Amino acid sequence: MRLDVVSIFPEYLSPLDLSLIGKARRDGLLDLRVHDLRDFAHDRHQSVDDTPYGGGAGMVMKPQPWAEALAHVAGSDDGGAAVAGSDDPAPARPRLIVPGPGGVPFSQALARELAGEPWLAFACGRYEGIDERVYEHAAQDLGLEVTVVSLGDYVLNGGEVAVLAIVEAVARLLPGVIGNAESLVEESHEDGLLEYPVYTKPSSWESASGVRRDVPPVLLSGDHGRIAAWRHQQRLERTAARRPDLLHASQAMPGAAATGAL
Ligand code: ADE
Repeated sequence: MRLDVVSIFPEYLSPLDLSLIGKARRDGLLDLRVHDLRDFAHDRHQSVDDTPYGGGAGMVMKPQPWAEALAHVAGSDDGGAAVAGSDDPAPARPRLIVPGPGGVPFSQALARELAGEPWLAFACGRYEGIDERVYEHAAQDLGLEVTVVSLGDYVLNGGEVAVLAIVEAVARLLPGVIGNAESLVEESHEDGLLEYPVYTKPSSWESASGVRRDVPPVLLSGDHGRIAAWRHQQRLERTAARRPDLLHASQAMPGAAATGAL
């Protein structure tokens, strides 16, 4: 998969060199390129923002640097998106993801959808946002599918942190990125329920405060049927306590996990 990220803070994306994402890049599973928006601003101060028409607080990102940056990214179809080991040619255009609090909610389902794309480009806005004409230009003139994506109902200073989260959620779904693919199966949000609690050795542990806590005995029983039933019950209780909205959503969908069809 090819990923391009445009930002005025390219260093913000440096964690994408680490851990499993960094390894996936080194293994050729991810072709991730970070671009500095200021390289596309040509005035003396390389300015990327200006005051908003109509008044109001803050600054708005100017259309010209964004148009040049997106043309540069979308026009750089050099075959880099082909996944290692596959002969598929790179697609002509990326799908453009713009993180922002006014976008569609990011979810595991959207992560799965994006993981099916061969090429994603991310536009990291800052300040009060990007001039609206950039979205129209990207869609209408460059022919890009544009999706504004929100991490949640809160406001970050810019899109970079959201890109880190979205790229991690998407990349770990790609074949070969996570060593143990089975660990993807029983995760929170994969089937509408939160994950069950997990424990490891020792089976009885005393904390520094002198309180001893034991692993639930059923997990030591070796009875796989009882363990599965216990875990399912834990998932239901945890989801009811922390995310009742998920149970309501799954009850609205016949056959979903919380109805017992798991
Ligand atoms: N940029 C600023 N706030 C954001 C949010 N909630 N989600 C994604 N990108 C953002």
